[in-house]
Amino acid sequence: MQVYLNGQYLPEGEAFISPADRGFVFADGVYEVIHAYDGFLFCNDLHANRLARSMSELRIEPPADFDMAAIAAELIRANELQSGEATVYIQVTRGAAPRGHAFPASGTQPTVYGFAKPFESPAELRKIGCKAVTAPDERWLRCDIKSVSLLPNVMAKQNAVDAGAYETVLVREGNVTEGSSSNFAAIFDNEWVTAPLGNLILPGITREIVLKLCEKLSIRVAENFIPSDSLGGAKEAMILSSTMEVMPVTEIDGKSVGNGRPGPQTRRIQEAFQQWIQQDRAFQA
Ligand code: PDD
Repeated sequence: MQVYLNGQYLPEGEAFISPADRGFVFADGVYEVIHAYDGFLFCNDLHANRLARSMSELRIEPPADFDMAAIAAELIRANELQSGEATVYIQVTRGAAPRGHAFPASGTQPTVYGFAKPFESPAELRKIGCKAVTAPDERWLRCDIKSVSLLPNVMAKQNAVDAGAYETVLVREGNVTEGSSSNFAAIFDNEWVTAPLGNLILPGITREIVLKLCEKLSIRVAENFIPSDSLGGAKEAMILSSTMEVMPVTEIDGKSVGNGRPGPQTRRIQEAFQQWIQQDRAFQA
């Protein structure tokens, strides 16, 4: 596997970072995950914009010639991932410096690391839907930044695995925020409801696309917090991410959502999402 590290493409076994890297010592870094379909990097520019925003919010200065979209494309090429599905991961940390909480001396080079690997799509699960459980959202108050500091997300995902579920839906002060690695939405009274943008959720790219698709499909949308105690009244539910795409949730905390099968609006959204990918691909070709 060829990875990218600080300006070079090299075999993974030859890529080394300093143990003093602030990504390692403080989780002081940000990242993106991009889904590739036969080499086509879906929403590559939106991921690049979000990474730039994450860096800017944390005052991480990228290298002068940093071009996330170009690195992602080259990782696909270098790893011969032009057919089938793949994911590209790109991470930027504040670089290696003697340990100290405050920012390191100016001029400290950020560390840029990226890799691409084949992706086994959860296509079968998308047909039948997945189970979710709820748990308290124990993250910090800047969930809008795609930081590599993911310990609460890791614990929440393991909580799902331990419960025999696929995702943990996080609840803060009685309201659903998002999944441990996904956005969450549900259908109530024919309205697609998802948490509003702000500091409590990641501005998901899949969420953004699905919002637009709902408008196209004449599905009413509301960006409102869903009280967790109203989840039982949801007709349909779904989790959204670049890797999961539009994943129906058919059970939450052991209780069926709707009739326990992916619902009609979820199906329409799934179909429209696939069409969107194909159109985007044709447009970029
Ligand atoms: N996670 N919310 C959280 C907390 C996430 O980690 C993710 C994505 C999303 C969905 O964002 P998007 O639609 O832009 O992928 C929402 C990625 C896939 C990950 O960490 O692997």
